[in-house]
Amino acid sequence: MSHLIAPSLLAADFANLQRDVEMINASEADWFHVDVMDGVFVPNISFGFPSVAAVAKHATKPLDVHLMIVNPDQYIDAYAKLGVYHLTVHYEACDHLHRTVQAIHAAGMKAGVALNPHTNVNLLSDIIVDLDLVCIMSVNPGFGGQKFIEHTYRKVRDLSELISARNATTLIEIDGGVGPNNAQDLLSAGAHALVAGSAIFGTEDPVETVKLMKATTSVASA
Ligand code: DX5
Ligand code: ZN
Repeated sequence: MSHLIAPSLLAADFANLQRDVEMINASEADWFHVDVMDGVFVPNISFGFPSVAAVAKHATKPLDVHLMIVNPDQYIDAYAKLGVYHLTVHYEACDHLHRTVQAIHAAGMKAGVALNPHTNVNLLSDIIVDLDLVCIMSVNPGFGGQKFIEHTYRKVRDLSELISARNATTLIEIDGGVGPNNAQDLLSAGAHALVAGSAIFGTEDPVETVKLMKATTSVASA
């Protein structure tokens, strides 16, 4: 499988959201990454339902929704109704993660779990076979444009080993400070999907940047 690129709309121009959604529709990107923040789990507020619904109306690629909120369970059905493809919740925000993952699947969506930089990937060992995606946060969640945390490479390798050991088919997604400069190293470490906000929307030609990141290949480590 070729790797996947998910532009993060957090870095799009909110006053021209339809224009930016259509730009990504016309690009080689695979998913739209949509960051939902509640001002409680993270110190920032981003998209609410009306904005996600507006994105869903114009997007022609699957929505990869990243919930940075407390009590995500209460909104699962609402996201399912919007036609969301992946619904990702934070490990740190869920007391009953197994139940939450089951509820996401029961609502007809793929289930993802995001890990903050301090959370060890092995905490997912008992649930990994149930997960469609693990999102490794390579910055502390809440803001775009932050510096990539280098220990992420080791986390990707550890998670890859866990997935193989359990015969799981979980995709590894990396989110935060990702761009053409570190895409190859992340893919070589075992990542399948790369989220990029400022590295795509902050460039002169976002469509070209997506193309560049799609053309990146992993180099097998010796
Ligand atoms: C951060 C969000 C990211 C963010 C990434 O909390 O989860 O998806 O948009 O932005 P960049 O790529 O600019 O670091
Ligand atoms: Zn995100």
